[in-house]
Amino acid sequence: MEDRHARPITYLRLSVTDLCSLRCRYCMPAGGVPKRDRRDLCSVEELVETARAAADCGIRKVRLTGGEPLVRRGILDICRGVAAISGVEELCLTTNGLALSQLAGPLREAGVDRLNVSLDTLRPERYAYMTRGGRLEDVFRGLEAAAEAGFSGTKLNVVLMKGFNEDEIPGFVDLARRYPLEIRFIELMPIGQGEAAEFLPAEAVLEACPDLLPAGDSGVARRYRSPGGLGTVGLIAPMSHCFCQSCDRIRVTADGKLKPCLHSDQEIPLRGLRGEALRRVIRDGIAAKPRRHHMNETGHSGAGRNMHQIGG
Ligand code: 5AD
Ligand code: SF4
Repeated sequence: MEDRHARPITYLRLSVTDLCSLRCRYCMPAGGVPKRDRRDLCSVEELVETARAAADCGIRKVRLTGGEPLVRRGILDICRGVAAISGVEELCLTTNGLALSQLAGPLREAGVDRLNVSLDTLRPERYAYMTRGGRLEDVFRGLEAAAEAGFSGTKLNVVLMKGFNEDEIPGFVDLARRYPLEIRFIELMPIGQGEAAEFLPAEAVLEACPDLLPAGDSGVARRYRSPGGLGTVGLIAPMSHCFCQSCDRIRVTADGKLKPCLHSDQEIPLRGLRGEALRRVIRDGIAAKPRRHHMNETGHSGAGRNMHQIGG
């Protein structure tokens, strides 16, 4: 269905946990987050029912997010349940990749179509620093396992940070030349209470790699390709090129709140609703999507939560 600004809303980002196996500096507080009572989070059945209701309201693509979705108990049941919903044409998952060496095959069998893997640096010591202890080789092993399990079109999410990974832009772009991957450079958004990292505009990628050729847009990304490259480079610039006018998504948090917009504190509780009542509330939430975010004017997101509690 369309929202009040005539945008067709077809994409649900469903967070299955607010926990994560890493504590990236820009996302999580240093001490991590307290584990919540399991009853505060949606059950496997509630998550699948929410996706089913959303599909009845016109959702065609579902992405499972976190925190880190692969630490959620029952993640394979959630995948199977959502993949089986008629109306859901595409099931994707965003992960830090650490558990993929074990879970890539089972995820594929459970019906996941595509993966996004978050990876902000290709240097082991930088990775350990930014993630507060993660091991880069685990992510590489996970990426290999994903390819072996038959996943194709895997995207790497790289959050651009001045003074942290600016000098690695050519290395990432070269990866997209040599492998059939999409490298997605994402502008850092002023959201949550992570440690401040410094903003770098997506334009910096084009300055660092002037031979990139435009290769069309896909969703919120402007795409480019190196001459002869096997993969693509995507630029996602919520700050410098607001793409709200073509926003097609809604979010549901792991504790069952519908967020029509990532950057608004508007949250609509879904838990306890079923059947037509659940569908009506989702339809009302879609209709009420804000027109745009105001991060550029205010300097902060307005989300009212950290990123790991919303799902990026
Ligand atoms: N700005 C931009 N991207 C972010 N992510 C987490 N926090 C931010 C932020 N403040 C990214 C993660 C992951 C995706 C889910 O969101 O790196 O790739
Ligand atoms: Fe997406 Fe919110 Fe921006 Fe809209 S205003 S594009 S919902 S982020």
